Amino acid sequence: MKVGIVGAGMVGSSAAFALVMRGTASRVVLVDIDDKRARAEAEDIAHAVPFAGQTVVEAGTYEDLEDSAVVILACGVGQKPGETRLQLLGRNAEVFRSVVGEVMRVCPGAILLVASNPVDIMGQITQRLSGLPAGRVIGSGTILDTARFRWLVGRHLGIAPRSVHAYVLGEHGDSEVLAWSNARAGSVSVESFAAQMGRPLTAEVRERIDAGVRRAAYTIIEGKGATWYGIGAGLARVVSAVRSDEQAVLTVSTVSDVLGVREVACSVPRVVGAGGVSAELVPELSTEETEGLRASAALLKETVEAVPL
Ligand code: LAC
Repeated sequence: MKVGIVGAGMVGSSAAFALVMRGTASRVVLVDIDDKRARAEAEDIAHAVPFAGQTVVEAGTYEDLEDSAVVILACGVGQKPGETRLQLLGRNAEVFRSVVGEVMRVCPGAILLVASNPVDIMGQITQRLSGLPAGRVIGSGTILDTARFRWLVGRHLGIAPRSVHAYVLGEHGDSEVLAWSNARAGSVSVESFAAQMGRPLTAEVRERIDAGVRRAAYTIIEGKGATWYGIGAGLARVVSAVRSDEQAVLTVSTVSDVLGVREVACSVPRVVGAGGVSAELVPELSTEETEGLRASAALLKETVEAVPL
C-alpha cells in the first residue's frame, strides 16, 4: 500500500519510520515545502529498511502522491512551550487551504489522515475543503491520549497497556474526557482489579493519571520542544487498520453528531477499515463524563464555526 505524508517534520517523519518498522506500507512518499529536509528524512528512514522489511521510502512532490491509499497531513506548525493546541488554528488553517487542494488534485481517492493540531478542527476543515465523505477524513484525535491512558493505568496495575481497555474521548486537548467509568483490565473493571491487586484507584491516583494524560504534551514539549514518537506510532496504527481492512476500534476523530452536538469532529471509539471510518461506538458514560464529552464537542463546534473557509 502506498502512503503519502505531507510534512516531513518530526511527526511526519516519525510516522514514516513507524510505517517502515511495522512493514505497513510498500511505499512511503514524503512531501515538504523544505525539499532538502524531505530528502534527508527519506534517506535516513530508508536506511532502517534493511532492519525491518521492504518499504520504498522517498521524497517527492505532490505529483508523486498519485495512487496513495492514505495521505497523512502532518504539515503546519507545532505548539510552542505553554501554547495550547487551539492556539495553532489560524496558522495551520492557512497552510491547509493550499495543501488539501493539492492532495485532492493528485489523489482524490485517498483516505486523508490528519495529524496537525488542533487536530479535530484541522480534520473538520480538511473534510470541508476536500468535500470527502466524513468517514474518509480521519483525525488522529485521541488515539495518542488513549494510549497514554492505557500506559499509565497499566503501569499502576502492573499489566500490559494492551490489556487495558480504556478510552479518552472528545477533543485531543485540554477538554478531553478520560472514560474511567467503563475502563477495563481484561474483562473486569479497573476499579475491581486494582482493589484485587492491592493498588486501589484512589482519587489521588486517578488525578495523577488524569494529569499524566492531559498534560503529557506540555511536559514533553517543555523538555524537548515537541512530541513525535507517540503520535507517529499512532498514525501508523491507523494506517495499519486501513491497510488490512481490520475494522479496528480506535478513538479517532471524524465529523459526526456527538451527544446532540451536530456536525463536529471529536473522538469517540470508531471502527476503522479499508474505507476509513464505518461506525462509531459511543460508550455508556457516567453523568459527569457525558457532560464533559458534550462540553468538549460544543467547544470544538464553536471553534470550527469561527474559522472562515
Ligand atoms: C501530543 C500532540 C501530538 O499530544 O498533540 O503529543
